[in-house]
Amino acid sequence: RPPAAPRHFLDLSLLDTPTLRHMLDTATRFKRAGRALGHPLAGRALALIFEKPSTRTRVSFEIGMRRLGGEVIMLSSREMQIGRGETVADTARVLSRYVDGIMLRTDREEKLRELAAHATVPVINGLTERSHPCQVMADVMTFEEQRGPIAGQRIAWIGDGNNMAKSWIEASARFGFQLRLACPEELLPDAEALAWARAQGADIQLTTSPAEAVEGARCVTTDTWVSMSDEDVESRHNILAPYRVDEALMARAAPDAIFMHCLPAHRGEEVSAGVIDGPQSVVFDEAENRLFAQQGILAWALGAA
Ligand code: CP
Ligand code: NVA
Repeated sequence: RPPAAPRHFLDLSLLDTPTLRHMLDTATRFKRAGRALGHPLAGRALALIFEKPSTRTRVSFEIGMRRLGGEVIMLSSREMQIGRGETVADTARVLSRYVDGIMLRTDREEKLRELAAHATVPVINGLTERSHPCQVMADVMTFEEQRGPIAGQRIAWIGDGNNMAKSWIEASARFGFQLRLACPEELLPDAEALAWARAQGADIQLTTSPAEAVEGARCVTTDTWVSMSDEDVESRHNILAPYRVDEALMARAAPDAIFMHCLPAHRGEEVSAGVIDGPQSVVFDEAENRLFAQQGILAWALGAA
């Protein structure tokens, strides 16, 4: 019998709803268990490869894995042979002999796909220029902690149609919430992801008007105007200036709307200080939940839950 395919976590569109829901249930169970968690990943090792900077993803994967009893090895692509031309495929084959899972953050999605194609252990997407599914798992978990089941609720995405927007689009199909995106014409979200989600029956509307998008929304979310893979800083600032989430925009959302942001944030750019530091903001609960969401993903990928 050929060995079972590794449980990769590459994008929300590639996993079904019960599997994703199971990861979130595990995340919540682990969060509630606190230190009484035990060590379901004892003896397992995870390699973390970063081609781009990170604070939350790096620390939450490392601490999350350690608290489950596993160990991690942190690798910067600059210090690996991959930085000197060793292929991604060979790196995948070699690492698979040492570790039980590999997380990659890269600004070239093809590298993630190539790693997954050649690894015999699970590969986890720690952000690419096209998607950030680990973050949106934590975001769904945070919404549900704050406001109950997300299905049928309305979420508003304001600003750049970037990697986070794509993962929100996929999440809308998988978790059954309404998504309203307000993005400038120049920075529309991934058309393929939109078409895919709509074909799955997702309720998604795209507009250029932030005011329209936040109407009835129980969560308003946005992201930096300049992502790690972007270079056109000045033109993005000009194009996205009308897409700042401020108090006036929040006032148009549902009265109990929460504000989320994956962080890092830029006060006075995509969000006003009053909103991100104000009573509707749950951004630090959201950051905290990266730890538990990751644990849910890891436990599933490594076959411990
Ligand atoms: N939100 C997020 O992924 O943050 P880092 O870039 O710090 O990992
Ligand atoms: N869109 C941002 C998310 C950072 C966590 C970026 O790609 O830089």
